[in-house]
Amino acid sequence: MTDLLLPTKHKLQGKVAIVTGGASGFGEVTARNFINHGARAVVIADVQDEKGQKVAVTIGPDRCTYIHCDVTDEDQVKSLVETTVSLYGHLDIMFSNAGIVAPEKQAVTDLDMSAFDKVFAVNVRGMAVSVKHAARAMKQGGVKGSIICTASVVASRATPGGGTDYVMSKHAVLGLMRAASLQLAGYGIRVNSVSPGVVATPLVCEYFGAEKEVALKKVEKYSRLEGVTTEKHVADAVLFLASDESEFVTGHDLVVDGAFVYPL
Ligand SMILES: NC(=O)c1ccc[n+]([C@@H]2O[C@H](COP(=O)([O-])OP(=O)(O)OC[C@H]3O[C@@H](n4cnc5c(N)ncnc54)[C@H](O)[C@@H]3O)[C@@H](O)[C@H]2O)c1
Repeated sequence: MTDLLLPTKHKLQGKVAIVTGGASGFGEVTARNFINHGARAVVIADVQDEKGQKVAVTIGPDRCTYIHCDVTDEDQVKSLVETTVSLYGHLDIMFSNAGIVAPEKQAVTDLDMSAFDKVFAVNVRGMAVSVKHAARAMKQGGVKGSIICTASVVASRATPGGGTDYVMSKHAVLGLMRAASLQLAGYGIRVNSVSPGVVATPLVCEYFGAEKEVALKKVEKYSRLEGVTTEKHVADAVLFLASDESEFVTGHDLVVDGAFVYPL
């Protein structure tokens, strides 16, 4: 009963989190949301050093650290997790979120296999090593932690216009999340995913080749609910999965898309 009275701003009281891809988009907004909800520390891991450092400085050096980490390199991910534990004592939350799209259209008949490999290296391999090392640290520290992976609405459907490698990579994220959730349940470690609809983050602006204002107009057409899916909608879903409010939720893909629809 007392839990029900916990102030909403203290949902993550005392927790330590890593956010991969935390320099931009969902990662940045989620890192700020975690801190606003009482997290003791958030480590932002990204390859965009200038942006990542700026986010960490604006959050505050007492509670946020930026660490350069390319998730395609397992040694860097291992070191990211070890540094976090040595700085803050343990790891409670891993938001494994870093992801890319190929610049090419990637229709199946024209697949550029080198671009395909890059998408898989970040979206699949990078996601797997992030889950692997976070789970190891949680097991070693006896922490009943929460791991959240960023999948997508296209983790459960395809897109008619291309993006074959991206669609495949996000289907793989659901496979990883489901396998890990079963294997880690015995340790009290929960693994879930969040599946956003189309949101006008830098990744989507680049894909559309459009500025944010134009991209926002385009993404309006992708949901049945009036308005657009925002970074904050996604960050709030991640917050729920990270917090004890979801303490009996694992192996679940939480879709945040305002009822996705392909534009006509
Ligand atoms: N924006 C959308 O509509 C949408 C929808 C569904 C899923 N997603 C997924 O959400 C996640 C976040 O994307 P976003 O939309 O916020 O885009 P974004 O480009 O704003 O953020 C992605 C971040 O990942 C980082 N990153 C890329 N490669 C990396 C690597 N090798 N190592 C570490 N960091 C790396 C980037 O530097 C960037 O800061 C991705 O996994 C993406 O696939 C996005």
